[in-house]
Amino acid sequence: MSALEEPVALPTQRAAGCPFDPAAGLGPLREELPLRRMAYPDGHAGWLATGYAEVRAILADPRFSSRYELLLLPFPGGPEGPLPPAPTGDMTGMDAPEHTRFRRLLMGRFTVRRMRLLTERVEEVTAERLAAMERQGPGVDLVTVFAQPIPALMICELLGVPYADRETFQRQAATLMSQDASLEERGAAMTGLTEYMHALVVAKRAEPTDDLLSDLARESDLTDEELTGLGAFLLAAGLDTTANMLAHGTFALLSHPAQAAALRAEPELAGPAVEELMRYLSIAHTTVRSALEDVKLAGQVIRAGESVTLAIDAADRDPRRFDDPDALDLRRGGSGHLAFGHGIHQCLGQQLARVEMTVALPALLTRFPTLRLAVGPEDVPLRTDMNIYGVHSLPVAWDEV
Ligand code: HEM
Repeated sequence: MSALEEPVALPTQRAAGCPFDPAAGLGPLREELPLRRMAYPDGHAGWLATGYAEVRAILADPRFSSRYELLLLPFPGGPEGPLPPAPTGDMTGMDAPEHTRFRRLLMGRFTVRRMRLLTERVEEVTAERLAAMERQGPGVDLVTVFAQPIPALMICELLGVPYADRETFQRQAATLMSQDASLEERGAAMTGLTEYMHALVVAKRAEPTDDLLSDLARESDLTDEELTGLGAFLLAAGLDTTANMLAHGTFALLSHPAQAAALRAEPELAGPAVEELMRYLSIAHTTVRSALEDVKLAGQVIRAGESVTLAIDAADRDPRRFDDPDALDLRRGGSGHLAFGHGIHQCLGQQLARVEMTVALPALLTRFPTLRLAVGPEDVPLRTDMNIYGVHSLPVAWDEV
């Protein structure tokens, strides 16, 4: 076996002082061979895709499945062998035609037009959070005061979930996203979230209100179990993702003052800036697929049943696709990135996330022109233990006038 055929472990260590870059070992692997054998922590061999073209091709290819029970986890601490099947309603673990049924029900509700209609509400919520920051004064944690509440409030209002219950469901959703949580802990969090959502679904069926859960209860053929599962999945998907982009995006901008200054000075840069931050940070760094049949790709043959780990963060730094990929350059606009995925599972909430980010990030920088980290960059706790990368907290300060 040549060195290039030798299975490698998934690199997970980021270089010291590089909180925005993918794990240090990924780039060299991509440059050497963008699709290669990988040793999974449970001892199986599979594949690792790090090149932009390879990751994109696999995401678009129906010969690869997303069903959890066919996938091996690339991180240690998971089960021996494949995962248990996805919980009911978790669309990321479904293939067509089951996936198509759920996706069709939701697609029209998350369109660019519909999400832009929410802009005014996002502006109100953002203004309210900026005022809360000012009240609390320099030294606040941006994650708890700003980055978490904005997407949490928006997804709650959209779905019709009482925001007042957030402490419970935020904790459960966080456990589901944690790589350190045991299968038992995940199971308990899933049960808690499901029981909470089930009670809500029963209430919406009895007395519909003006929200997505009520609309689906009234108009779709989803069973209570399916609607409960889908509601829990959408809530979890909408909570943690954008929150991490807002916090980690702010950390990145504060660490690149010239880029932050450009965003302050040019409001029209907001859209391209969000795309570039998505590319540069690619916080949903990996996803996994399993081959349903033998597939020839990039000079390799992936055998039926083998898992492929797709390093989205490495793909979005591929010099074959993006010039000077390790530079954060808001003006380039980063379009074509894979940070929202690609293919049939491409993020359903991306337009909502875009509206939230294009409103909130420039508003934050403009309201606090002297915004800065209140701790050294090396003291910002990074979410290296979570499926969605970012920061656990971000203490910030500014000059009071
Ligand atoms: C799917 C990232 C915000 C709902 C995905 C996928 C990625 C992603 C990478 C594809 C996963 C895969 O193929 O395995 C992100 C990021 C976000 C974000 C980085 C924030 C910046 C949201 C929001 C919602 C949402 C706000 C709100 C509902 C979903 C859903 C799917 C999904 C429902 C599954 C779609 C399907 O399987 O058809 N997201 N997401 N996401 N996302 Fe997001």
